[in-house]
Amino acid sequence: MTIRKAVLPVAGFGTRVLPATKSIPKEMLPVVDRPAIQYVVDEALAAGIEHIVFVTGRNKGAIEDYFDRAYELEMSLEQRGESKREILEQVQRTTLPAGSASFVRQQSPLGLGHAIWCARDIIGNEPFAILLPDVIVRAGPSCLAQMVGAYNETGGNILAVDAVPEDEVSKYGVISPKARNGRLIEMDGMVEKPAREDAPSNLKITGRYILQPEIFGLLEDQGAGAGGEIQLTDAMARLMEMQSFYAFEYEGQDYDCGSVLGYLDAVVGHAIHHPEIGAQAVALIEQLVADAKGHG
Ligand code: G1P
Repeated sequence: MTIRKAVLPVAGFGTRVLPATKSIPKEMLPVVDRPAIQYVVDEALAAGIEHIVFVTGRNKGAIEDYFDRAYELEMSLEQRGESKREILEQVQRTTLPAGSASFVRQQSPLGLGHAIWCARDIIGNEPFAILLPDVIVRAGPSCLAQMVGAYNETGGNILAVDAVPEDEVSKYGVISPKARNGRLIEMDGMVEKPAREDAPSNLKITGRYILQPEIFGLLEDQGAGAGGEIQLTDAMARLMEMQSFYAFEYEGQDYDCGSVLGYLDAVVGHAIHHPEIGAQAVALIEQLVADAKGHG
């Protein structure tokens, strides 16, 4: 069955980047020339996703507005004619097609597993994707498109993984790899935020998933896990007992925008690879670094 729908959980407060996120959603912070969430939505669309379910919360209205038409703005740009045509087209491209987005609220911050469970009625009884918007993956084809390609061969459930330094494993979900077949990895376990000495590997769960709808029944009665939250990883570990489950080592570069340094990494990474301003960005950064060293 094709993967038509994706869930983007966007209810989190963004506490690690306060006060920047005091009055705007963290997903709306700009990464060079567009909000972070635009990259994640583009990744989903490039993988053939037709319907996006945003799991939102209070104070996240800016996300809903961003993907809607901006009627007055578009009118005003249109009236200014040819000189504003290109920017008008860019603005119009951010509008999602009518009926292709749903918004559901997670009313209490009970954890990622609970946020995903909030989308159960809109997803229904079909396999679906999850993209965590804190994570931007720069890749071509898009990370989710690579996973859909793998899924078309294997079916079942797939989660993206990548290697991290060993002192970072406790920030993430981590898998226990068993056997490897190219980029596909068979697993015999996964654990959320293990202590460094207990981590079964240094392969972290990136934040991209293709899951079967049976995950919802498991999330329904999933107890609190790491950090006192209902964890998606714990429900996936149970699903793995019943269905085929693979990890997938995608090709690309991920940026964790949920922290100040990760966000800076995303901005600089996207600036230097930008098709129009990339070369200038590299020159600018080299100059800034040379100046800073000169004053060091
Ligand atoms: C979540 C997931 C974790 C995953 C991480 C990726 O954690 O629970 O398994 O490795 O995203 O960024 P969070 O960042 O919400 O703590």
